[in-house]
Amino acid sequence: MRILVVGGGGREHALCWALRRENPDADLYCAPGNPGTASIATNLPIAADDLDRLADAADMYGIDLTVVGPEVPLARGLADRLRAEGRAVFGPSAAAARIEASKAFAKDVMRSAGVPTAASGTFTDAVAAAAFIDRQAEPLVVKASGLAAGKGAVVCATRAEASSVARAMLAGGELGDAGREIVVEAFLEGEELSVFAVTDGRDVELLAPAQDHKRLGAGDTGPNTGGMGAYGPVSIATPALLERVRREVLQPVLGELERREARFSGVLYAGLMIGPDAAPSVVEFNCRLGDPETQVVLPLVTGGLTDSLERVATGRAPLPIVAEPGRYAVTTVVAARGYPDRPERGAAITLPPPSPGVTVFHAGTTLDGEGVLRVAGGRVLSVTGMAGTFEDARSRSRAGAEQVTFDGKVYREDIGWREAARRR
Ligand code: AMP
Ligand code: GLY
Repeated sequence: MRILVVGGGGREHALCWALRRENPDADLYCAPGNPGTASIATNLPIAADDLDRLADAADMYGIDLTVVGPEVPLARGLADRLRAEGRAVFGPSAAAARIEASKAFAKDVMRSAGVPTAASGTFTDAVAAAAFIDRQAEPLVVKASGLAAGKGAVVCATRAEASSVARAMLAGGELGDAGREIVVEAFLEGEELSVFAVTDGRDVELLAPAQDHKRLGAGDTGPNTGGMGAYGPVSIATPALLERVRREVLQPVLGELERREARFSGVLYAGLMIGPDAAPSVVEFNCRLGDPETQVVLPLVTGGLTDSLERVATGRAPLPIVAEPGRYAVTTVVAARGYPDRPERGAAITLPPPSPGVTVFHAGTTLDGEGVLRVAGGRVLSVTGMAGTFEDARSRSRAGAEQVTFDGKVYREDIGWREAARRR
């Protein structure tokens, strides 16, 4: 079997790692990949959003299964393009990827399907947005509708702040095209949970639920990032809650997408807020696996991943994806000083020595001409600890992150703090 993974971050390293584990003899390619994927796959120097060259590569290497990691190529139609050429692709069409690429569309789909989510308004005009904001309770959240790499949502304490954020996006051109349309929504209280549904648009198989840590600083302080760490499974995600998410969120949204002739296939990622009353409400949908959640969710899988990806990629229902009960995974992201705004690149990296139950996934790394591993992006590595208890997984991840060295290293020592507090 010849498999191509599209993307070059920690998520794609974890995808390659999980696919390699299940398919030791497969020809595995990653475009563009990173120095981590290079040790288990053949990297192809093609950008993840270069649709023409990806299609050529799929041809040239006779790829049987393409797994697309990031949202941008999906939103631009990579899956449509490859499918039109008769290839099996795991990832939604551009029409279905709008569930992530347009928050205005996602809100409209949720409204039609009766899915619980924060009350909101959608605007392209700054004056209309300001008038709406004036009538809302504080705090409130202003979001660019388009793809903004994790920078598009601003939680505003006051209406005045919300108006100025809305104006900066709509009239000031901040965030470019992504911010030409905005969603203003009510602030949701509670605890966040990421649920991953592998689906052909009708049947759903869930991966382990995970919890991300979006804020840069310890105790969930500082600016929003792409995610500074994650763990799974999450004890608030009881079987009853997951059943409710399936019934009240996933199935209605999939049904509505199909009604709109945008049947979804791939991973539908529901970013949820679990309220004080334990009711789930949707914060956002993504059309792909999460990063860094993948770095905990896939190590927990003990079988059936490739089969399900392949089935969904060829229009069939997924099969159950097995996770051994009583296993825990925690990942700590090691980032570069200046992340998320202006990460400093170039520092030489020393990896931790190999240790049982610890896997280091590469994200923003590069090998220089002399073979020295260097910082090449904001999120540099993601150190996953696995164990039979949550606490052991947590301390393995933290110890591994601590042992990484490079100038300007930034990481959170408190990944999993909510779960740890619940278990005390
Ligand atoms: P989004 O881009 O929609 O995923 O938002 C990024 C992050 O902002 C989320 O993961 C939450 O931490 C926070 N956030 C977004 N919308 C809300 C909301 N309505 N209430 C509370 N927090 C939110
Ligand atoms: N970790 C959040 C995301 O992948 O969007």
